[in-house]
Amino acid sequence: MSQPLLEVRGVSIRFGGVEALKKVSMSVHAGEVVALCGDNGAGKSTLIKIISGVYQPDEGQVFFDGEPLDIRDPQDARAKGIETIYQDLALADNLDVGSNIFLGREPVTRRFGFNVIDRPRMAGVAQDVLDQLDIVIPARKIHGPVKMLSGGQRQAIAIGRAIYWNARVLIMDEPTAALGVPEQRKVMELIVSLKKEGVAVILISHNLHDIFSVSDRIFVLRRGEAVGERRVSEVDGDAVVKMMVGDEYAATRAVA
Ligand SMILES: Nc1ncnc2c1ncn2[C@@H]1O[C@H](COP(=O)(O)OP(=O)(O)OP(=O)(O)O)[C@@H](O)[C@H]1O
Ligand SMILES: [Mg+2]
Repeated sequence: MSQPLLEVRGVSIRFGGVEALKKVSMSVHAGEVVALCGDNGAGKSTLIKIISGVYQPDEGQVFFDGEPLDIRDPQDARAKGIETIYQDLALADNLDVGSNIFLGREPVTRRFGFNVIDRPRMAGVAQDVLDQLDIVIPARKIHGPVKMLSGGQRQAIAIGRAIYWNARVLIMDEPTAALGVPEQRKVMELIVSLKKEGVAVILISHNLHDIFSVSDRIFVLRRGEAVGERRVSEVDGDAVVKMMVGDEYAATRAVA
């Protein structure tokens, strides 16, 4: 296969006495969706926080397009085209849609000799992003704080922001956990269309149905260690749960 767009090699990190990741390697190609699975505390969020510049690994290295990636903070990662959507930190509640799309990267215009934030442009882009994603939000809500929107609309705006900024790698930590069924379906559809456009997607989810519906590969972590990687066509839910919890526990766990 071609060179991965993003590759993690031999990454370890420790928090005090906890070895959250032990020599973990994984990769994702352009146009591929990789599901990152594992039980609670397996190290999934920690791994994506290393990729998105929140944590520095104690050992190991992240590569982007074959080159070592030096990311000191999340702004560095974003500048490279690595966008991360965290479940709870997805949007700034009190700001409108446009402000959320531009958060920290607001366009500026000159008015009366001063630099001011170009709000009309932000509102225009917000509408374009929503149209592109086929999301209908009444105008008065587009201009109000996003906390007035539904979970699915908020998640879609976070995805829209990543698209607007030309994400090459999109990382999503439990994007559908808080959503209703139609909203979950919308987010899954958005993932499929990003994949078609060549975006590399890393999806963390506990929902095996979602994982099997959109992923190409499944990568499993257990207590900080990589325990396996499978093409979705080669496994079923039982096999994934066994990898997540270990053979000895699998028999006692419910399978989704
Ligand atoms: N900032 C931190 N400080 C100390 N320990 C941490 C920190 N972040 C994570 N850990 C620990 O590292 C381990 C992995 O946590 P992580 O959040 O990556 O798990 P996860 O796979 O995302 O779990 P979940 O499915 O519950 O979200 C856990 O034992 C957790 O307690
Ligand atoms: Mg987590």
